[in-house]
Amino acid sequence: FERGLLTGRRVLITAGPTREAIDPVRYVSNHSSGKMGFALAEAAAEAGAAVTLVSGPVHLPTPQRVARIDVVSARDMLAACEGAMPCDILIAAAAVADYRPEAVASQKMKKDPGSDDGLTLRLVRNPDILATLAARADRPFSVGFAAETEHLLDYAARKLKSKNLDLIVANDVANPQIGFNSEDNAVSVIDRALQATRFEQASKGQIARQLIAFIAARYH
Ligand code: PMT
Repeated sequence: FERGLLTGRRVLITAGPTREAIDPVRYVSNHSSGKMGFALAEAAAEAGAAVTLVSGPVHLPTPQRVARIDVVSARDMLAACEGAMPCDILIAAAAVADYRPEAVASQKMKKDPGSDDGLTLRLVRNPDILATLAARADRPFSVGFAAETEHLLDYAARKLKSKNLDLIVANDVANPQIGFNSEDNAVSVIDRALQATRFEQASKGQIARQLIAFIAARYH
């Protein structure tokens, strides 16, 4: 792992989950811990990049020499990323909520004491942060992640195409040892020629350093 690999490059990284409010005390979210994105931010900074890390709500310390912006919802994350543009390389490791409640109740929602009826929440689509940034005129070298529980390489390749990415990191999240909130990861990186490169199970810190070296080589 070469230290000067990304000197002078601006790298924007998203990490963690997003939280989509239902009312002032409840939300829709997922199990992302932010570990993968934070490890990537640390590795990119070690490689000499100027790193901006846009993170959803997580319990992790900020890596050294990384500029961190904390956000809550997907729409906040998009606005923070747009504010951090332009950049040379974008790495989207965040598990962004695809949907949010259509309406946010201004007060805590109360049960109807007179009935046992369920509650139907109507959800609407969130913006796609990665696809939005990869579609800009000042488009960065764009790297996505694909968290899948089946048809891993096929679904990841589809996301590479539909979001117009340079690389996608396929992450099999059906395996609890290498997905959400785990210490380790194991991934395959797919390029535009649909060539897959495998990175065997290792700590997220080690996988992050291998990914940063691979991304830097493809970027240059
Ligand atoms: O945070 P950890 O606990 O360490 O776990 C790591 C991880 C499993 C979250 C990470 O390795 C990972 O796979 N992140 C992507 C999770 C995901 O939501 O993937 P997706 O297949 O839904 O999205 C595809 C890509 O589009 C991702 O790069 C995602 O950041 C991006 N996206 C998705 C939806 C959206 N509205 N905006 C986006 O930018």
